[in-house]
Amino acid sequence: MTTTVDWRALREEFPTLRETAYLNTCSLGLLSNPSRQAVNRYLDLWTSYGAAAWYDHWMAQLTTLRQQFSRLVGCEETEVAIVPNISSGLAAISSSLDFSKRNRVVTTELDFPTVAHHFLAQEDKGVETIIVPSKDRINVDSRALEEAINDKTALVATSRVFFTSGQIQDVAYLADLCHRNGALLLVDDYQGTGQLPIDVKATKVDVLLSGGLKWLLGGPGIAYMYVREELIQSLTPTITGWFAHRDQFDFNLSYMAFKEDARRFEAGTPSVAAVYAGEAGLSLVNQVGPEAIRQRTSELTVDLVSRLGEAGFELQIPATPESHASITLLKSSEPHAVVKELSKRSIIVDARSGGVRISPYFYNSTEDNQRLVEALREIAKGSQI
Ligand SMILES: Cc1ncc(COP(=O)(O)O)c(C=O)c1O
Repeated sequence: MTTTVDWRALREEFPTLRETAYLNTCSLGLLSNPSRQAVNRYLDLWTSYGAAAWYDHWMAQLTTLRQQFSRLVGCEETEVAIVPNISSGLAAISSSLDFSKRNRVVTTELDFPTVAHHFLAQEDKGVETIIVPSKDRINVDSRALEEAINDKTALVATSRVFFTSGQIQDVAYLADLCHRNGALLLVDDYQGTGQLPIDVKATKVDVLLSGGLKWLLGGPGIAYMYVREELIQSLTPTITGWFAHRDQFDFNLSYMAFKEDARRFEAGTPSVAAVYAGEAGLSLVNQVGPEAIRQRTSELTVDLVSRLGEAGFELQIPATPESHASITLLKSSEPHAVVKELSKRSIIVDARSGGVRISPYFYNSTEDNQRLVEALREIAKGSQI
């Protein structure tokens, strides 16, 4: 399939790219002109209306934001909660679970650490956290996962895209595996949503968390949580607050009644600047479309891998282009030094243990890849880095 997106014009919306080869979206997506304008709009509303901005504008913007996310992942607006970060969404769900009968949570060695940290902190309460190891630091063997999930498993919490290797996991298969064992599947999709299409209904995941920081171009302080409709009312969080209350503006302290939709997993006042930046980012991603984005980032990843290979660098990447999202790990014994050298040349990537992470997005070009690989050749001067 070919697309007619004007990638050059889109690139113009990201002023950082005028000078810089920015290849680090898996760490932080770039600020776009629309997100800057949206935050300015928020500031103008604050100036003009004061507290009335809440009722006349900001509450409506929260609804628009939920709608944008629901459109992107293929669910109803009522299945979306806005939370400040992945950890808070995870906490709202985990606080809803009864670990007395099923006390096991399964995650993997390749998942972002906040997931394991959250459950390890509940060891004293009897929660058993199983961290399935990875043999190659790229992927986790599905048989090892199958063996870890049993009738004591309450939850499997893992990523669709592993944050250091770019490996894509088959979450539909995982959802089925979990459900056959009576467990729930929570997907940390911070590295997936936006750069890869997803249909949460088709995949049958129970909970999916993502946020503004990376591929959704909204910056820090905003995350989105899908919770499957049939599940919502069976979950009652104890990490909660007045935004979850059905009668939020009654200010009645004598009872707690939860909202009936996914807003029951929200807790307190959101960061409205982040709501505006996040909505503009999501709107841009929806406009371009995740299918076109995936096509573009696949092409850039294939180009990057081939240039790095030709230059003789060693990579730690998934086995096939189909299972490789737009995160490429270049093996390096001194990744921080390499990242520093590249940044002196206005080429931005980041370091993780054992490697340099390179993550082109739709606003990048093959020229950015070329600039990176030429600089790496110069830094390495004929040897490995
Ligand atoms: C896969 C993944 N999950 C979670 C996070 C961050 O979690 P939180 O929003 O709680 O800071 C990151 C990166 O910052 C990530 O890459």
